[in-house]
Amino acid sequence: MNPLLSVEDLTVEFKTSHATLKAPDGISFKVFENECVGIVGESGSGKSVTALAIMGLIPKPQGKIVKGKIIFEGQDLLRTNTHPRGTKISMVFQNPLNSLNPNIKIGKQLSEVLEQHYGMSYKEAIEKVTTIMRQLGIPEPEKMVYRYPFEYSGGMRQRAMIAMAMLCNPKLLIADEPTTALDVTIQAQIIQLFKKLKTESKTSILFISHDLSVISQIADTVIVMYAGKICEISSTRKIFEKPLHPYTIGLISSIPTMKERKTKLKSIEGNVPSLVNPPTGCRFHPRCSQKMSICTEREPEEFSVDDRLVKCWLYKGVD
Ligand SMILES: Nc1ncnc2c1ncn2[C@@H]1O[C@H](COP(=O)(O)OP(=O)(O)OP(=O)(O)O)[C@@H](O)[C@H]1O
Ligand SMILES: [Mg+2]
Repeated sequence: MNPLLSVEDLTVEFKTSHATLKAPDGISFKVFENECVGIVGESGSGKSVTALAIMGLIPKPQGKIVKGKIIFEGQDLLRTNTHPRGTKISMVFQNPLNSLNPNIKIGKQLSEVLEQHYGMSYKEAIEKVTTIMRQLGIPEPEKMVYRYPFEYSGGMRQRAMIAMAMLCNPKLLIADEPTTALDVTIQAQIIQLFKKLKTESKTSILFISHDLSVISQIADTVIVMYAGKICEISSTRKIFEKPLHPYTIGLISSIPTMKERKTKLKSIEGNVPSLVNPPTGCRFHPRCSQKMSICTEREPEEFSVDDRLVKCWLYKGVD
């Protein structure tokens, strides 16, 4: 089966007046039809930049894709004049307030998308927007379409953003931390919403979060990123049964159990390294309890273990 999306050796470089860094740095992964792939990793690991690269929205001139391919339905998105952004690929951004215009009523903002892409009349468009808003659990959508973003609560605003992303029936929906700004109850509702979208509309989802427990509720496959690199790709079930990479092991053991939530949280010792001057060899080695001498010298190769991909020298020669 051909993947819907194939990212190959993607490298994005940022140059500012005082520094140059690469994130993501040589990452490859695939998303298949009707699959939900989660990307997890600490702040600054390159998750949002990966999403922006797929959307063709890397901020210029400071950012540049210096290497790699992004193939979507056989088309190389880095070498095309007809990027399917907003139609076959859409995105829910990390900060919903930045992506809605505060001065335009929600219904008008959403219906414009349909008017532009499908040439619908305003009346047809607003009807479709109302229907989608109802499907996404926005109460009294026929009234809410005439309200401004500030009149929506955080959770409702996030639903409006998801509605906007779903308007054109995308084949791929990218959701960047869609629940992070929300309180826990609303978070759970939004996750349910994504699950429903996935089963009902067969949309493939690339779901980005720094929270592995959120990812585990929705993703079929998990990609673990650390400091611009991928360290492990695995089915969600297997990654929880037996995480392979020491960083993944750390991430999983730092998920609090219900009992621990009331006491203190475990975390992985040390800090995320600077990407301006990353550690040699494996970027995780300064924090790794299983470090060997090769880890400080050579970047780990990709090893295939138990149908999974892991980039860690511990797995050299292990099948
Ligand atoms: N416009 C920019 N100019 C310069 N550097 C940038 C820019 N955007 C991102 N970066 C850098 O690229 C790296 C990856 O950033 P990215 O936003 O992808 O991280 P992230 O994994 O999404 O983190 P978070 O969990 O905080 O959202 C970071 O070191 C960041 O400082
Ligand atoms: Mg981000």
